[in-house]
Amino acid sequence: MADAPLVLGIETSCDETGIGLVRGHTLLADTIASSMDEHARFGGVVPEVASRAHLEAMTPTVEAALAKAGVAFSDIDAIAVTAGPGLAGALLVGVAAAKAYSLGLGVPLYGVNHLAAHVAVDQLEHGPLPKPCIAMLVSGGHSSLLLVPDVAQDVISLGSTVDDAAGEAFDKVARVLGLPFPGGPHIDRAATSGSGTAVAFPRGKLDDGTLDFSFSGLKTAVARWVEARQAAGETIHVPDVAASFQEAVVDVLTRKALQACRKYDVHDLLIGGGVAANSRLRALARERCDAAGVRLRVPRPGLCTDNGAMVAALGSDLVAAGVTPSTLGIPADSSMPITTVHV
Ligand code: KG4
Ligand code: ZN
Repeated sequence: MADAPLVLGIETSCDETGIGLVRGHTLLADTIASSMDEHARFGGVVPEVASRAHLEAMTPTVEAALAKAGVAFSDIDAIAVTAGPGLAGALLVGVAAAKAYSLGLGVPLYGVNHLAAHVAVDQLEHGPLPKPCIAMLVSGGHSSLLLVPDVAQDVISLGSTVDDAAGEAFDKVARVLGLPFPGGPHIDRAATSGSGTAVAFPRGKLDDGTLDFSFSGLKTAVARWVEARQAAGETIHVPDVAASFQEAVVDVLTRKALQACRKYDVHDLLIGGGVAANSRLRALARERCDAAGVRLRVPRPGLCTDNGAMVAALGSDLVAAGVTPSTLGIPADSSMPITTVHV
């Protein structure tokens, strides 16, 4: 792959300024500047703070990625950037930077979908994606089941959350349990010393015949359970509640993902997005996929959460597929549908 084009990927859809450098499916650099510390005290990402942080982090993060990969600006063959979905102001910083680099370096620009990039990134670790595969994307903003005939061309939505995203439920339940934001990793850690069967929390939409999810009822059930114990003067055993909540989420996610595989007769499942970093989700998915004869691919945790390598990975696929580059007029589209892989 030494001769494959060198693609610079830019990700700014939320609080991470992610820059990736990829040649073919080889990852050369993946640098991230996060403004999470600035948001933590607000219990959620503050869009204006995120945009400003992207602006300040952009140039140093790009330069750090080039240094890490040992390449120069003049070596870059194409620029890929998250054009949506995400926070409008945050996306705008990345898209504007990408246009400037594209124009300044005289190389093509590819505006890509953040969600499709979460799928494409796995190739940097496990090689080309099987065609087709089922992808389950679970992040702070999205929970979706997708049929992916070809990540560079065609992504079909099979189902998604009807209310909260899986990561959003983790973050809200963490707050109820007094754990810091973002809550996912804290619940994951707390759960290791608790029991997943301590409390029987509800499994929303589990056997409703759809491939949709619902996590809002579960989140409310956890809050009511905790409130009731607190009102009675009882001490909450946080690890047990965290583990039982987590079990309810990953039970539904893995069952629905395998239902999708069966329904579409697809034997390859990919899990991506920030929640795919969850240790219990990874373990249960492995167990159930093995039992069902489904091959499972999950990127390492650092590639599951938002990063620039995923954008470069999808950009690299677009270049390889001969897709027409984006024009310099592309907008940042905060509500870009998953079916739009590139613009
Ligand atoms: O994909 P991502 O980095 O950003 C979005 O596009 O949303 O996902 C962030 C989400 C947050 O809700 C965070 O709590 C969750 O992923 N998350 C986890 C874990 N690590 C991150 N959730 C559960 N367990 C984890 N280990
Ligand atoms: Zn994401």
